Amino acid sequence: MVLNPLLAYKAELKQKEFKLISRYINENYGIKLPDHKRIMLQGRLINRLIKLNFSNFKEYTDYVFSEEGKILELPHMIDFISTNKTDFFRESAHFDFLKETVIPEFHAASKYQPMRIWSAACSSGEEAYTIAMAAYDLIPVYSGFDFTILGTDISHRMLEKAQKAIYHSRLIQTIPTETKKKYFLKSKDPGKSEVRVKKELRAKVQFMRHNLMDKEYTIKQEFDVIFCRNVLIYFSKEDQLHVLLNLSKKLKPGAYLFLGHSESITHLNLPLKNVNQTVFQKI
Ligand SMILES: C[S@@+](CC[C@H](N)C(=O)[O-])C[C@H]1O[C@@H](n2cnc3c(N)ncnc32)[C@H](O)[C@@H]1O
Repeated sequence: MVLNPLLAYKAELKQKEFKLISRYINENYGIKLPDHKRIMLQGRLINRLIKLNFSNFKEYTDYVFSEEGKILELPHMIDFISTNKTDFFRESAHFDFLKETVIPEFHAASKYQPMRIWSAACSSGEEAYTIAMAAYDLIPVYSGFDFTILGTDISHRMLEKAQKAIYHSRLIQTIPTETKKKYFLKSKDPGKSEVRVKKELRAKVQFMRHNLMDKEYTIKQEFDVIFCRNVLIYFSKEDQLHVLLNLSKKLKPGAYLFLGHSESITHLNLPLKNVNQTVFQKI
């Protein structure tokens, strides 16, 4: 332990501790941390050393992998390791496909129960709320149409943000004015450049923690649509297959899986056929 947290700024994440962390993260969360990410990881975790008053990474790893540390610190470590980049209307062609093909098809099949949608690895919620905006637009178009969205992630910090649904107004700059007016409220405090997703949209989305690497998924429902975008790129081929097989089991027959635009499953043997750009349908 050190009294002067400035000492921690000089701490180096040595190969031994880096390997301990990267192996644990890979085995339990699927995320690959190759050697060239050591310095990046050191930069991200130094804040935790300072916060906890540790002078080096050996003290930190001893703690994080202790019984107490696994409960109290591991969630913070994961928060600092995972890459959470996201955006409203990211890879926007997917939301067009949802509106123009998936929802009309669902409605035509006279499925009067709400459409169930899962945003797996939802980060701070932008993806789940974008799906909600696209689907909400169609409620008056298709009589009887309704939907629910489940947003999940491993990061507690991201899930808290998602639940609050408060964003910097710069994040919605590129959204068309009409959509902004319809679905966001500006902060009443003029000193704050913040917006909040409106209550009626928030009511459609629930968030909970879920690890895609879990052996069996405890989520009971099956879904009509699953978005699992821009997370599998961080996983090994075997872990991608494990996740995709589990997600396939959670899709109803004929349901849709949306992956990130740079993610491919063509090399894997799965009950899915490609129907649009990184959109797949359960066979
Ligand atoms: C780059 S963001 C993608 C967010 C959103 N899907 C998008 O495309 O904009 C990746 C997210 O995956 C989450 N993640 C990483 N490993 C995960 C795992 N094993 N289970 C669930 N979520 C995970 C991270 O916490 C992060 O929020």
